[in-house]
Amino acid sequence: MKVTVIGAGNVGATVANVIVQKNFAGEVVLLDIREGYAEGKAMDMNQASTILGSFTKVTGVTNDYAATANSKVVVVTSGIPRKPGMTREELIDTNASIVKDVVSKAREYSPDAIFIIISNPMDTMTYLTMKATGLPRNKVLGLGGMLDSARFKYYITKALQAEGIDASLTDVEGMVIGGHNDKTMVPLIKYASYRGIPVTNIINWDAILDAARETKKGGATLTQLIGTSAWYAPGAAVATLVEAIVTDAKKLIPCCVYLDGEYGQKDVCIGVPVVLGENGAEKIVDINLDGPEFKYFNASVEAARETNALLVNALKNVTEADEPEKKAKTKKK
Ligand code: APR
Repeated sequence: MKVTVIGAGNVGATVANVIVQKNFAGEVVLLDIREGYAEGKAMDMNQASTILGSFTKVTGVTNDYAATANSKVVVVTSGIPRKPGMTREELIDTNASIVKDVVSKAREYSPDAIFIIISNPMDTMTYLTMKATGLPRNKVLGLGGMLDSARFKYYITKALQAEGIDASLTDVEGMVIGGHNDKTMVPLIKYASYRGIPVTNIINWDAILDAARETKKGGATLTQLIGTSAWYAPGAAVATLVEAIVTDAKKLIPCCVYLDGEYGQKDVCIGVPVVLGENGAEKIVDINLDGPEFKYFNASVEAARETNALLVNALKNVTEADEPEKKAKTKKK
């Protein structure tokens, strides 16, 4: 089974590397626009496999979409990451044109592939992919919820530890839905648990609210510390989504998907719990939100719609910027 990862930078290379370490796919094709870059990363990973024993072969290519043909899954990480102080939404002008271009090319060679979008602003880039490829909605997903949930679990574990419980990171469950957005993502506080025990029964409400607040700015915190956006948890999360699809695992994972009436919303891509299997997003689980979660989720949807509305301009700017070049070419002829 072939998996393509577009963009061999921090996130893309980590996705490929975790897939190789997990050892469930036949081949990973890593594609980048930078000459030789993906080839180099692929060579390094293949050399690591001689030590670690993975059978997953990695092929690196420079912009050669023919090498990606007939992929089961295409992961899109191409584009720029944010710098300290930036929001994900500020990346739209650069990333919209890149994402539109790469998904269209990848779709040509892998018409049956399932697309997973990572490039930010992710909810809007997922929406753009739906529109640009015309794929059915089960075949287009975005990474947000699983990563934000990982951060939520991390901060709840820290809160338990601060209460004197030396909790393991793997014993905490928590889910974040809504947009992959610092202000409006929705950590589902009342469902967070410590091995099935609601954390609200163990730690005080203020500590849980703090964990939720830290979760929302979790990406920004890392960007501030590292100087660019994170890659280890994003890479692990994406590889897990790919694995769930390739192995038909039927895992319930919060992902960004196109809503068509679920959660009372239409024509928007946003994070909700989804069952992932060989057909991609096989089932959206509607958890009947009420109270503050319902209000916050709807606000998150509105924020995503506002960013989606910027797409027209973002793509128009690109066309206009291209225009002088196109005119010059026409003249030469
Ligand atoms: N086609 C293929 N690759 C491209 C293209 C393109 N049109 N444009 C850019 N790239 C490549 C770059 O050459 C680079 O190697 O995408 C890669 C991006 O890697 P990084 O700069 O390291 O960025 P990264 O941290 O991986 O983030 C990528 O994921 O989490 C999001 O916000 C983040 O949008 C960003 C994306």
